[in-house]
Formats: sequence, structure tokens, C-alpha cells
Amino acid sequence: MTIKKITVVGAGIMGRGIAYISAQAGFQTTLVDISLEQLNNALQEMRKLSKKAISKNRITDSEARALFSNLHTSLDLVAAIEETEYVIEAVPEQRELKKNVLETIDQHAPKQIVIASNTSTISPTELGSYTKRPEQVAAMHFFNPVHRMRLVEIVKGLETNAETVSVIREVAEKMGKETVEVNEFPGFVTSRISAMVGNEAFYMLQEGVATPEDIDKAIRLGLNYPMGPLELGDLVGLDTRLNNLKYLHETLGEKFRPAPLLEQYVKAGRLGRKTGRGVYDYTNDGERIKK
Ligand SMILES: NC(=O)c1ccc[n+]([C@@H]2O[C@H](COP(=O)([O-])OP(=O)(O)OC[C@H]3O[C@@H](n4cnc5c(N)ncnc54)[C@H](O)[C@@H]3O)[C@@H](O)[C@H]2O)c1
Repeated sequence: MTIKKITVVGAGIMGRGIAYISAQAGFQTTLVDISLEQLNNALQEMRKLSKKAISKNRITDSEARALFSNLHTSLDLVAAIEETEYVIEAVPEQRELKKNVLETIDQHAPKQIVIASNTSTISPTELGSYTKRPEQVAAMHFFNPVHRMRLVEIVKGLETNAETVSVIREVAEKMGKETVEVNEFPGFVTSRISAMVGNEAFYMLQEGVATPEDIDKAIRLGLNYPMGPLELGDLVGLDTRLNNLKYLHETLGEKFRPAPLLEQYVKAGRLGRKTGRGVYDYTNDGERIKK
């Protein structure tokens, strides 16, 4: 079956980025959330992104119009998946929540379709077990910002079949992405390394090793990373980073124990760019306020 309709569940940092490239690739895309505010923010951000892309000649006016005519939003998950042909789940990294959402998707989405999860760490075998179609479930792990990052990590669960992997690869390639196929292990390849580096940077901050600016600068210029680990944490969302670390700590052991300072930031509501304050401070437009 050639896929024409995609539903993205969760309109946060990742869901909105995925919906944007999905609509751009020509899929009829429905972005679903439980929060109208999040859907409106997502649309606003996507408009900004398309204006920027037009101004840089990356897309034409008519391509942008086509993109938005392919894009729909909904607060009604059941209605949005009843006739869909492919689902990407992008709700927060909490197992109970993912379980509830995947059970609903499984009950109401057509039986033959693939359910892909944008989880950063959670076992696709476990996610598959929340459904009655584990052979059609896998992780389809995008990166932030979705429109710029070229990779999609495809992670198979124990029951995932080859047809599912090939459908996911086809969708990812149509969205302009490169893929790697990874066997199931907590944190896959990328999240495991990224969580480890990000956590270590928080321990350094807590120990007073250097200022946040200098930790980030050292890693950017000394190790040639495109971003420092603390600025990346603010972009990812410190709550998401903490959820990832908690899961890796539980599954892979002590070396992933979250830095207490990271836990404190999350308790204080300092979640990064999305709340205007994380390690750094941001304007309403998401620009970093330099000291
Ligand atoms: N942030 C990153 O850089 C990043 C990168 C790769 C993967 N991920 C993964 O992507 C997933 C989403 O992360 P995020 O950073 O976009 O989270 P987020 O907190 O920015 O957004 C999550 C969205 O899901 C919505 N939501 C919550 N419950 C819902 C429900 N029952 N039905 C529909 N929508 C619901 C929320 O309202 C919110 O808009 C997580 O699994 C995360 O681990 C995140």
C-alpha cells in the first residue's frame, strides 16, 4: 500500500517538527494533541519556519501553500486515526502515558497499519506489547530540530517484522531522511550517548568545574560538537532529558544516575527553551539572552 495519510500524535517539540516535514513531503498529515494551545503554538511555529525557508530560497511560496494545505490539526485522537494509514506517536517519554495512548491507537486505527513511536529510549518490544499488533510496532526516532537533522533511527522490537521496517524506511526516505537500523537496547545508539554526555555536563555544572558557557564552548570548539551539551539539553527539554536518564538508570545502571542539579531544574520548572528558562534564559521568540 502506498501511504498517503499520516497521523502524528503529540504536537510538542518533536511532533510539530515531524508533522511539518510530513506535510512537506506530500503526506496528508493530521497533528493531534490534547491541548489546543499546543496545537496553536505548533501552527505558529511551523508558519515561522516556512517563512524562514522561503526567505532562504529553500522552498517556494507555492510549496509552502501546498505544505499547509496538507496539514490538519485535531483534538480528537480517535477521529484522527480511524482512517489513517500510518501513525507516529510523539507524546512525552512516560511509560504509563505511552501505554494509554498506544492502547487507544491500537483499538481505533486500521488493523493493517504500522504504529511508529518517536521514543528516545523506551523498548519497542515493550511499546509493541501495549498493542495487539506488536509485529507492526517499532521506534522511528527523529532528531531535534526535525527539519534540519538528517537521521531517523529505526529500532526493532522482538516481534517487529521486516515489512514494518521497510514501511518505516520508505516513509523516512520520502521525508528526506537517512536511516539506520538498530537492534533493541535501551537508549538505542544516539540517546544513550547523548544522555551520558548531557548528564556529565550537569554534574560538572553542579561541581563548579566551569561556567555553563565555558562547558559548552569547550565541547563545541575542543571536541567539534555542533552544540554544547547544556545548550542541547535546553533545546531537547530538560524534563525529556531527565525522563530519558531515569529510564536508562533503571535499565542500564548506575552510570546513568541523573545529576541532582538536573532534577532540581526540572522541579523548578526550568525546562529549557520551551519554558523560557533552563540552563540559559530565552526571549519569548526562543532567542537566547546573552549575559
Ligand atoms: N525533545 C527532543 O529533543 C526529542 C528528540 C527525539 C525524541 N524525543 C521523544 O519524542 C517524544 C516527545 O517529546 P517532545 O520533546 O516533543 O515532548 P513535548 O513535551 O515537547 O511534547 C509532547 C506533547 O504531547 C502532548 N500530549 C500529552 N499527552 C497526550 C495525549 N494523551 N494525546 C495527545 N497528545 C498528548 C502534550 O500536550 C505535548 O504537546 C518523547 O518520547 C521524547 O523522548 C524527543
